[in-house]
Amino acid sequence: MKKTVRDLDWQGKRALVRCDFNVPLDKEGKITDDTRIRAALPTIRYLAENGAKVVLMSHLGRPKGEAKPEFSLLPVAGRLAELLGKEVVFAASDRVVDEEVRAKVAALADGEIALLENVRYRKEEEKNDPAFSQDLASLGDVFVQEAFGTAHRAHASTAGVASYLPAVSGFLIEKEVKFLDAAVNDPKRPFVAIMGGAKVGDKIKVIENLLNKVDTLLIGGGMAYTFYKAQGLEIGKSILDADNVGLAAGLLDLAKEKGVELLLPVDTVCAAEFANEAAKCTVSSQAIPQDMMGMDIGPETVALYREKIMAAGTVVWNGPMGVFEMPNFAAGTKGVAEALADSEAVTVIGGGDSAAAVEQFGLAEKMSHISTGGGASLEFLEGRVLPGIAVIQDK
Ligand code: 3PG
Repeated sequence: MKKTVRDLDWQGKRALVRCDFNVPLDKEGKITDDTRIRAALPTIRYLAENGAKVVLMSHLGRPKGEAKPEFSLLPVAGRLAELLGKEVVFAASDRVVDEEVRAKVAALADGEIALLENVRYRKEEEKNDPAFSQDLASLGDVFVQEAFGTAHRAHASTAGVASYLPAVSGFLIEKEVKFLDAAVNDPKRPFVAIMGGAKVGDKIKVIENLLNKVDTLLIGGGMAYTFYKAQGLEIGKSILDADNVGLAAGLLDLAKEKGVELLLPVDTVCAAEFANEAAKCTVSSQAIPQDMMGMDIGPETVALYREKIMAAGTVVWNGPMGVFEMPNFAAGTKGVAEALADSEAVTVIGGGDSAAAVEQFGLAEKMSHISTGGGASLEFLEGRVLPGIAVIQDK
């Protein structure tokens, strides 16, 4: 068990909190989805209410070590203040930490909150540079890890800083680990995993690991066509991860060897072009026309997958079933999302596109847990130790 913010007395202490405020912005720099900011609020409130001076830090995007204004955390400071209903001091510097920033942090009263500028303004961040880690650490008495979305990165603000401060987890990290760990390592059975997304290459390690754990693996999305190819089927103009056909064949063999039921879509919605308005048809997956491409799983597949989901004790889902951003090819992803919403199983959504899909369909509230991490949840499902979690002290 990892130590959490509940295990300390915070009165008068400086809590240096790493959040993942890497939120999407539109062209005007407005936040288009504040889920990650909201996810950190319980920890921030708890620390402030218990008398800590709260110093928040995060990255935003990939400014590659340069102070680029379009990557500033200023919009986040504004949204945070709105959501918390109290002032958030934006202790901003292109150097992230300097004398002025130190002075602003030193001036915080108990219960007050400050936010630093984007830690990736400094190239030392991604290098996990000890001097930068120490600079950051000088702004706190305790390090609070709350950035699940960035916990797979061994950077100065996610890992290095814990060499200089005692490290505990916030409520979000605690919740993410609880759900993901229980789903993968102590699942209520049958345990069903649903894997989608375009490229099998990105998910091979996850699938390999899950084949040791699940009873059933349902495949959908673009990666299905690489599996068909591995079975010698024709896939027309569908997306193919050509470098990984052999690996897909290996995964089909591994599933057999492990006694795991691995299902591929039985029907496919095809289109003549990669466009929402393109002419479309639904065919058996054995009969994809040469001049068309698969865009979504078909209704028979949705019904089959729904049956498996309704009978499951635990479901983990990562990756959409089709091009759900296009309304004409969203039915498969929606059907699977609805099945999860209706099922009694523990339902865990790996972040990224599947989380966005569940939000888009208005079904987020119906899931047991939606991870705030894309890459991080995938690495967790691969069975890897995340460096940002490894640094948190054990109880
Ligand atoms: C994410 O959005 O997945 C995290 O914030 C990590 O961002 P990164 O992939 O740029 O490290």
